[in-house]
Amino acid sequence: MIEYKNGVFRIGSPKIAYLFRVTQHGLLEHLHFGAAVPIEDASALAVKAGTGWGMAVAYDEEDNAACPDTLPLEWSGAYRGDYRESPIELWDENGAVATDFRYAGYEVTDGCVKMNSGLPQAEGGSHTLAVKLRDEALCAELTLYYTDFGAVLTRRVVLKNIGTHQLYIHRLMSLCLDLAGEYDMHTFDGGWIAEARRHRTAVGAARVVNESTTGFSSNRHNPGFLLAEIGASEDFGRVCGFNLVYTGNHYASAQRSFQGLTRVMQGISPAGFRRELRPGETFETPEAVLAFSDGGFNGLSEAMHHFVNDNIIPRAWRYRSRPVLFNNWEGCMFDFDERRLFDLAKRAGKLGADLFVLDDGWFGVRNSDRAGLGDYGANLKKLPGGLARLANRVGELGMEFGLWFEPEAVNPDSDLFRTHPDWAITEPERENLYSRHELLLDLTKPEVRDYIVASVSSVLDSADIRYVKWDMNRQSTANGTKAHDYILGLYEVLRRIFAPRPDILLESCSSGGNRFDLGMLCFSPQIWCSDDTDPVERLAIQGGLSYLYPQSCMGAHVSATPHAQTLRATPLATRGNVSFFGVLGYELDLKELNPVGEQEIKAQITFYKAHRETFQFGVFSRLPAPEGWTGWQTKTGFETAAGFFRGLIPAAPGMVKLRVTGLDYNRRYRVESRPQTLRVGAFGGLIKYISPVRISANGFLLRAADRFYALPDGHEDFVASGAALMAGFAPAPLFAGTGYDKNSHNQGDFGSEIYLISEVTGHDKNR
Ligand code: DGJ
Repeated sequence: MIEYKNGVFRIGSPKIAYLFRVTQHGLLEHLHFGAAVPIEDASALAVKAGTGWGMAVAYDEEDNAACPDTLPLEWSGAYRGDYRESPIELWDENGAVATDFRYAGYEVTDGCVKMNSGLPQAEGGSHTLAVKLRDEALCAELTLYYTDFGAVLTRRVVLKNIGTHQLYIHRLMSLCLDLAGEYDMHTFDGGWIAEARRHRTAVGAARVVNESTTGFSSNRHNPGFLLAEIGASEDFGRVCGFNLVYTGNHYASAQRSFQGLTRVMQGISPAGFRRELRPGETFETPEAVLAFSDGGFNGLSEAMHHFVNDNIIPRAWRYRSRPVLFNNWEGCMFDFDERRLFDLAKRAGKLGADLFVLDDGWFGVRNSDRAGLGDYGANLKKLPGGLARLANRVGELGMEFGLWFEPEAVNPDSDLFRTHPDWAITEPERENLYSRHELLLDLTKPEVRDYIVASVSSVLDSADIRYVKWDMNRQSTANGTKAHDYILGLYEVLRRIFAPRPDILLESCSSGGNRFDLGMLCFSPQIWCSDDTDPVERLAIQGGLSYLYPQSCMGAHVSATPHAQTLRATPLATRGNVSFFGVLGYELDLKELNPVGEQEIKAQITFYKAHRETFQFGVFSRLPAPEGWTGWQTKTGFETAAGFFRGLIPAAPGMVKLRVTGLDYNRRYRVESRPQTLRVGAFGGLIKYISPVRISANGFLLRAADRFYALPDGHEDFVASGAALMAGFAPAPLFAGTGYDKNSHNQGDFGSEIYLISEVTGHDKNR
């Protein structure tokens, strides 16, 4: 809902309110972003007039409410008395110019106002407020757009040159905002195979910046971040969340002024950015997303998750079940042919996979990452029947077929590059800079976009392909301006290929999570979080992403052990349990599985499918957990699934209590742990203590037993009140060096359990 009264604007829902007002000098004073205060309280929130600050540059020297440097503002200019960081920097031929935008009117429309630069935007907002500001001296007009999405709102700006002289944009943020209070900034940073690690930085007098200049949203610094009041926790305290519907270079900063206001801004990175704005032209920024929670980080995540599922994910895939997939990459890399693929597909089908994905290496001379990228004709040596025959054979096994592409890049050793060397992004006077032996194609060129659209579309129409993995494996070397145009080109290409094919499930990937952002999610309902599938690492990666993105958009696969990235051995149960909190997939050589492993995977897939809605679309919470443990929960109206993950196991483990959340105190619930088994081989020589027959640690018997038999691990099944479960229940004990007990949890390091919790009715209540 959007209200306007006596110069005050309020964007609000029953949960949150966002208020600002027009000052007597035509500036926009930010009043409040937080709990749902009414518009009538605006004057209680506004800065009071009084004598000004010493040294202030003011519109009225006697009045501190007229000093742009000390007011909490919705927008600010440059070289006009506000010396905090400016959200705008405009130049003319002589250098940077002053900007001083003042209020010039507003308009409220139903729904969203469609953007026209080709940037993707959230859908389904109830109303949009457009506030017009004008700088008469500069002859420029700025429109601030606010769209109401209930618990979330979006902001963006459009700048128009209404004069007769050229202007140059060097910086134009999507949002600028001055918040009262003291904050920590939480960012999600990392690199390849180590994405989305959460870092906390206190926001003080020195500016804190979250930025990417790699050409993409990057695995270094996710565009999403949080500002949390000091001391906020998962379930308590006030937290503001920010994100950007954009895949390119981004910038955000937070800095606390001397007067105690925290200025926060977010938008396209100004690094190397310069856009000419001719008379009559407009420039549109990407949409920024703002959410608020006074229920800690979990409350903030819930608001952001709903927003992504409801308003960002492509319409045809909103709340649509995601298939359990098998991907051949980690199992085969480039070493496969139709026979091997078909064998894998048969195995994957038997285990219960819904979708078989053929990854890199199916086209051109792509037998390593050194050649072939760009030439999307099936390699008939590997696939003599082409893609169509493979897709049909996979279909006959009861699975859908999916295919990998990396359409934005090219190997110099490819027909495409030999024919069109000028289509790659290079610098004529300098040597080429390769990454993974590839260059990026120049998506700012219409002929390149046409080629990609035509070549990908013709493959998609040549076989029954229901899923596409759209990969991109390098950083850009383009400057800021070109990097932005590239991203617009990418959006155009994605729109042209996938809008006519809405039922193809698109999974975006960029060496894992190098483009995990809301821009890509507007096209691809899911994104491959990371090339690191070690479950211990995934707790940090998926855990970090969970602050801003829902489980339904996180591709999460089980792979082989020891793990290819960490050499760590982990229980198969834990690899499954971590992947359940995302879109489950498998990525390993199934031929190497023994019958016990096959059975376990089959059981995992059956379990996941039975609770798929809960895992993919339930309300996610990070749970309080004992030292060294991680607790996650996802909850729908009918059940709750809680996962508890351990690290290294201490000798003589102490007592722990496990707490879940969001239940009704007075209702009774059945709690059942997912049945798990233990590999006989994992016990080595210790097996002799529990085996009825003599088994040697290195002998044939143990190897055979390891293939065919598994030991049961502690299974729990009890009924308790919501009050008890939220206070903390005592789980089955951990192995304590005193022998195997089938009622204990004996997985050793990195063990985990999933508990299913559902309300009981009738006689079961008293169990
Ligand atoms: C990087 C991706 O992240 C992997 O999953 C895989 O698709 C490879 N590229 C293939 O080259």
